[in-house]
Amino acid sequence: MSTVPDSQPTPAAADPSVADPATIGPAAIDPQPSGPFRVGDRAQLTGPKGKMHTVTLMPGKALHTHNGVLEHDLLIGLPDGSVVTNSAGHEYLALRPLLNDFVMSMPRGAAIVYPKDAAQIVAQADIFPGATVVEAGVGSGALSLWLLRAVGPAGRLLSFERRDEFAEVATANVSTFFGESPATWSVTVGDLVDELPRAATAGSVDRVVLDMLAPWDCIDVVADALKPGGVVLCYVATATQLSRVAEFIRGTGLFTEPIASETMVRGWHVQGLAVRPDHRMVAHTGFLITARRLAPGAVLPDVKRRKAKAPTYGDEDVELWTPGAVGDRTITDKNLRKRVREATRAAKWATGDTGDDTGHAAAGDID
Ligand SMILES: C[S@@+](CC[C@H](N)C(=O)[O-])C[C@H]1O[C@@H](n2cnc3c(N)ncnc32)[C@H](O)[C@@H]1O
Repeated sequence: MSTVPDSQPTPAAADPSVADPATIGPAAIDPQPSGPFRVGDRAQLTGPKGKMHTVTLMPGKALHTHNGVLEHDLLIGLPDGSVVTNSAGHEYLALRPLLNDFVMSMPRGAAIVYPKDAAQIVAQADIFPGATVVEAGVGSGALSLWLLRAVGPAGRLLSFERRDEFAEVATANVSTFFGESPATWSVTVGDLVDELPRAATAGSVDRVVLDMLAPWDCIDVVADALKPGGVVLCYVATATQLSRVAEFIRGTGLFTEPIASETMVRGWHVQGLAVRPDHRMVAHTGFLITARRLAPGAVLPDVKRRKAKAPTYGDEDVELWTPGAVGDRTITDKNLRKRVREATRAAKWATGDTGDDTGHAAAGDID
């Protein structure tokens, strides 16, 4: 897989340390080539006062800011991690964006899974190279990117999303990052409850990851799709959702006792003797809950748990968990259409399918 348009020399020809896409096959995922910057590569530029811009490198194009003009040609051919000077004498550090950087700056339709949670999802759901993984919903495709990396070229990710505009944003974001839509990935537009039984035969899926408002609605179809011993992981935003999905999983009698956690990552300021935690952090994003599918007919041995009386839940609870109600920003239809346009334009650049000539992936700009 390559981010280089057909008219450019292949990376292998330019740099023997970079795999030739022709020899690694369409399923290989090589979104992070090393070696010198090439035409079509994304470069993250950090300029005066730490302001960041992400551009797609094109000959003859330039980054115009009120701090001057930076010609892309200055960067093409330089090693990753180079410092260049623009027309006004300002220095810019140029780096290929890491996946971490990419997901935080890509166009969003729905709220994304943050990298701190994605890392834990990969670990706790035990996503392995070669695994068959089901994911719903796709939202903006942030988690899809981490899952695609984790399953690797021999795995499969089957993603489901019930809103087609979100599926469009996610597909464009994934294509932008990988330079094409990976052969290991399928996106089905529709409700997981209807689509999963059609897409996967019973007992054929290794892992399922649910990021949605009401994951309990999907647990029955997930139980059918999972292999014995397979893992289901749900990511939910509120404690009451956590309670409801835990009780639902327990109530099926088809899974092991669910295990719940949250992940807090606190950065540290480390300079000389001034070594202390950062003043600010992303505190709450969501909770993770995992359980494993029992073999058909198996009954969980008595776990000596004091039998708690299961609470009752109503449809009105769901209203309390919508993004707006829990304080997350909701997206208007107009803004969502704008995100679709931004994501699609960036994907066209990354896949070499463009008639536009601005040379800038404005959607990827990080302020
Ligand atoms: C928070 S977003 C997912 C974000 C995504 N994990 C990411 O990292 O970008 C939740 C998505 O689930 C979708 N969704 C909710 N219930 C669904 C269902 N039953 N089947 C398919 N998609 C569903 C919604 O349309 C929404 O786009």
